[in-house]
Amino acid sequence: MDIETRQAKHIAMIMDGNRRYAKKLHLPAGVGHEKGAEKLSNVIKWCLEAEIKELTLYAFSMQNFHRKQEEVEGLFKLFRKHFAKLNDDKSIIEKKIRIKVVGRKHLFPNDIQESIAKIEEKTKQHDNLTINFAMAYGGREEIVDAARKIASEIKHNEITAEEIDNETFANHLYFKSDPDLVIRTGGDYRTSNFLPWQTVYSEWFFTQSLWPELNKEEFLDILNQFNNRERRFGK
Ligand code: FPP
Repeated sequence: MDIETRQAKHIAMIMDGNRRYAKKLHLPAGVGHEKGAEKLSNVIKWCLEAEIKELTLYAFSMQNFHRKQEEVEGLFKLFRKHFAKLNDDKSIIEKKIRIKVVGRKHLFPNDIQESIAKIEEKTKQHDNLTINFAMAYGGREEIVDAARKIASEIKHNEITAEEIDNETFANHLYFKSDPDLVIRTGGDYRTSNFLPWQTVYSEWFFTQSLWPELNKEEFLDILNQFNNRERRFGK
């Protein structure tokens, strides 16, 4: 039987539990998000050490736009700060890290879009680790956007309806690479509109730890469990 067990190359993460972390410590929600953003540099380090090639992080969903204005503004401030930091970070260049943002980026304020464009351009040749920040992202929205692009191509006689298959469809998504595993922190067992197309054969892991609490031991334990899972891809 064709069974595959292998080292993970692409990890996706739902970074959940920032506000509950803050609440536990009797701190404002914004502090939870700050701690969450600080956790990113650890996670990137662990991924480099484990020779992971791609990391996709759910940083801001389409649904998150509906949170209170104060929280949304606070998150935008955090994105500004961290994209500016990434733009100045020499280790991104030294370690050949590519940074991309996937989602309806045009919904962010102009200065955030510019900062994103700058880091994407600056790192586009890097191939050691690709980090996809899913922002203004929704899985259903991604599928709708792909369908719109395909409909427009059909209208302009660039492709025919009969030519659409899984491969053609995937080529119209924000990105094509399927995660080997998805880690959701925060104790909830749901997928929350994250990568519905790309994760159909991903292995899912759910942690009780809140995102700012995730530690290296837990991360390595998940990688180890992944290595011991049999992946059949329906075969
Ligand atoms: C979910 O926790 C987390 C978010 C909505 C924001 C995640 C953002 C970061 C970790 C910062 C990302 C930084 C960059 C540079 C892109 P929650 O607020 O839903 O927490 P809860 O489940 O406790 O309510």
